Amino acid sequence: MDSIIRELEERRAAARAGGGQRRVEAQHAKGKLTARERIELLLDDGSFEEYDMFVEHRSTDFGMADQRVPGDGVVTGHGTINGRKLFVFSQDFTVFGGSLSEAHAEKICKIMDQAMKVGAPVIGLNDSGGARIQEGVASLGGYAEVFQRNVMASGVIPQISMVMGPCAGGAVYSPAMTDYIFMVKDSSYMFVTGPDVVKTVTHETVTAEDLGGAVTHTTKSGVADLAFENDVEALATLRRFFDFLPLNNRERPPVLPSEDPADRPEFSLNTLVPPDPHKPYDIKELINKVVDEGDFFELQPTYAGNIVIGFARMRGETVGIVANQPMVLAGCLDINSSRKAGRFVRFCDCFNIPIVTFVDVPGFLPGTDQEYGGIINHGSKLLFAYAEATVPKVTVITRKAYGGAYDVMSSKHLRGDVNYAWPSAEIAVMGPKGAVEIIFRGALDDPKEVEKRTEEYREKFANPFVAASRGYIDDVIMPHNTRRRICTALALLRTKQLDNPWKKHDNIPL
Ligand code: HXC
Repeated sequence: MDSIIRELEERRAAARAGGGQRRVEAQHAKGKLTARERIELLLDDGSFEEYDMFVEHRSTDFGMADQRVPGDGVVTGHGTINGRKLFVFSQDFTVFGGSLSEAHAEKICKIMDQAMKVGAPVIGLNDSGGARIQEGVASLGGYAEVFQRNVMASGVIPQISMVMGPCAGGAVYSPAMTDYIFMVKDSSYMFVTGPDVVKTVTHETVTAEDLGGAVTHTTKSGVADLAFENDVEALATLRRFFDFLPLNNRERPPVLPSEDPADRPEFSLNTLVPPDPHKPYDIKELINKVVDEGDFFELQPTYAGNIVIGFARMRGETVGIVANQPMVLAGCLDINSSRKAGRFVRFCDCFNIPIVTFVDVPGFLPGTDQEYGGIINHGSKLLFAYAEATVPKVTVITRKAYGGAYDVMSSKHLRGDVNYAWPSAEIAVMGPKGAVEIIFRGALDDPKEVEKRTEEYREKFANPFVAASRGYIDDVIMPHNTRRRICTALALLRTKQLDNPWKKHDNIPL
């Protein structure tokens, strides 16, 4: 018995040592933490229960029979964040570069299966050289097993990827199918083909950082949701993010009791919208002022800035915020903003998170770039997402709600539950100037006449009352009461019940 216990201790120590001191030092020298250090920072103290510490690869080719490291390059198990359970895998770059063998994949699959059984999120900490080159096709099979589970878990449990090192080739598709991708600046990158292949095929010279670093994916491609300065900041923020989410699709998100009164007036909002309709203002000021304690967790802040998305709490409960941003492209909807917000709305709907939408949208962005890029297809994603969502939907129009974009932005017609407008709202097919140019094309020479007709149009449509008289708006509210009115609506909608017709799945325009 004693000898078995001794052996157990020795085996545990060998697994904890990973790839050895030299490689751990190399990892630290790159400014990266080890797989275990990361888990320690992510989870509550002492909560981690490890699985499969003694699993080894079964490969014998290329001298692998003599190179076995217990754990095989990934640390897996479960633990808690602020007392709430989750499963985690953390790839260990010090062991075969964190590369994925058949056994390594089996470990990840095991925790994914357990997570699905008990209804707990999965967080992956990715740091891997990709497929274990010595294993070849067995490794590819392993990836596909993980992919299949990513798909089955989608919409059932939240899946979050924190990319903290290399993630290349087909390996990128597992994070890609999870709900959120976070990255660490200067130490992580994601691409389907690396700089060398790019050079050979397209003759472009590009660094790994430029091709697929954290800044690239949070500004140019929109593949990643947030970029962090280092591992410590990344993991601390991930803990905060986790608190907004439910554990699975049958639960509601946790309630965080708030000292912030639900009926708190915010008089500064009465002057937020400038009198000049062409002047921008910062929609984030509105968001920060109406949510609990000004705590807004923004996602993708540096990508498609014309729409703002993120989580906050109202009455202590998580809400998803979607808001047009007049400061960027005048708040127009375009390809990137539609994709960004569409996916976010769908996440909220999967996981019982009410959606609060702030509307100030002059329409869809015109131009050949947009049309050739498929704005018809991409714009419909956001429309589709709002229309199919059955979670509570509360909408506030602060200023412009023009044209098709009015319909898209959680309008009454797309089963918006409670739709409010500020007195400054203009709900119309288009702005007064454009409308007059079209209605009176060629008929008005006198600028004074044009001005008169423009004013006439503005008076008729550039206000919330036409829409309100049709019931498209439930009430015109004073800006300073926005928080109170939203909180009351959300309280009312807590018991909302709405189902879509049975179907195998929908056919969203991908
Ligand atoms: C086995 C690997 C490995 C891999 C790295 N290592 N990648 N072992 N399979 N894929 C090992 C190295 O041999 C080395 O072992 C240790 O990990 C650290 O690697 P270094 O090269 O010293 O580190 P670094 O300089 O930081 O470079 C990291 C790297 C590079 C850029 C990831 O290692 C690299 O290019 N690796 C190969 C990447 C690759 O081509 N993977 C296959 C992609 S295709 P020692 O013993 O010296 O410490 C793919 C398909 C997936 O993934 C398809 C899914 C459908």
